[in-house]
Amino acid sequence: MDKLIITGGTQLSGELRISGAKNAALPIMAATLLCEQPVSIGNIPHLHDITTTMQLLGQMGIQLTIDEKMNIEVVSSTITKYEAPYDLVKTMRASILVLGPLLARFGEAHVSLPGGCAIGTRPVDIHLDSLIKMGADIRVEAGYIHAKTRRLQGCRLVLDKVTVTGTENLLMAATLAEGTTIIENAAKEPEVSDLAHFLNEMGAKISGIDTDILTIEGVEKLAAKDIHYDILPDRIETGTYLVAAAITRGKVKLKDTRPDILDAVLDKLKEAGADITTGKDWIQLDMHGKQPKAVNIRTAPYPAFPTDMQAQFTAMNSVAEGVGIITETVFENRFMHVQEMQRMGADIQLESNTAICKGSEGLTGAPVMATDLRASASLVLAGLVATGDTLVDRIYHIDRGYDHIEEKLAQLGATIRRIPK
Ligand code: EPU
Repeated sequence: MDKLIITGGTQLSGELRISGAKNAALPIMAATLLCEQPVSIGNIPHLHDITTTMQLLGQMGIQLTIDEKMNIEVVSSTITKYEAPYDLVKTMRASILVLGPLLARFGEAHVSLPGGCAIGTRPVDIHLDSLIKMGADIRVEAGYIHAKTRRLQGCRLVLDKVTVTGTENLLMAATLAEGTTIIENAAKEPEVSDLAHFLNEMGAKISGIDTDILTIEGVEKLAAKDIHYDILPDRIETGTYLVAAAITRGKVKLKDTRPDILDAVLDKLKEAGADITTGKDWIQLDMHGKQPKAVNIRTAPYPAFPTDMQAQFTAMNSVAEGVGIITETVFENRFMHVQEMQRMGADIQLESNTAICKGSEGLTGAPVMATDLRASASLVLAGLVATGDTLVDRIYHIDRGYDHIEEKLAQLGATIRRIPK
């Protein structure tokens, strides 16, 4: 397994281009299953999860071509199998996103149950219960979800919890249902909206985009021609590099991003003492060489503070001035990075879903283990300010969601290198 070695102590500075959003690219690639015409998608990030999604679609018989600029063309009419096998689902839970489109377009889907993962149990009951309400016949047997329907029926769905991929699965399913579907308490993450815009480009009739009530008027088919859709920028990648600059007391400008979908994160960075300036598609952060101040954070669905930025802010609080209290409300076990940071000298106390971080002047480099995607990124950030070398093991987690992280950080002046297995 590859490892990253980071030598801390450099203030980051410079400019960087932000990639397309992983969590928009994955549902949008799944949504191509709904379209009867070839579809082209641009601004695809270079990530392992994208390769896995291509494998997933490819093993169904779908034709995919990718060019050197990471534009993907998908022709779904060549499909031969309606299945997401365990081997792929176990490496990427987002594979569940093919359930809605397969069922809606082909009336049949066989998808391995994702199971739990490092950050929590992550059930899919809301996806399944809602599809049953839409008339699907669903059987869970030997670890697989087997779903069938003649045609899904539009209905009113009030989701028990705000779920991102749950909303996306139902949104995709409802586009081809008979009649109107209303999804209440829908997730309104920008990636959900990006998917909804893409579906509308293909011929879907979705209204209420960006709100928590989505109305979908079902259509017979999605068959718009010559579709090309560019994925929105990755707000979590953006936030991660902003924290990288803040934690090292540096100054960076991030381009091809969207400040308007990062309010909660930018507010907390300002509270930490960062000087932030923005344009339509760029963000600049300048710490003027100062130590960040600790901030309190409570994660919750968009537009509140994202759980996907919690670990990075934990890293920042551990070298900040003062005490910061971080409360995680979305996933029950998303503090796996804390133990590793403690090994680097961080003073963090865990009390159920709360981490109390007492800032200190410094961390010490150590060998640490990545446990999930965002936790891994936070360990890299901690390594950037630690004295000496930090060796981050199991970085396949990082490669799932960060496009060339070591090259991008090196571009900002960090001393970081990949050690191949
Ligand atoms: N939940 C249920 N039942 C369901 C679905 C969800 O109880 O049927 C619960 C979950 O257990 C969790 C909460 O609802 O406690 C929210 O989970 P959600 O379904 O929103 O998470 P997800 O859709 O599985 C997506 C992102 C995650 C991100 C979360 C929250 C993708 C592919 N993944 O996951 O991204 O943390 O939303 O914003 O979009 C990451 O990129 O590192 C990542 C984990």
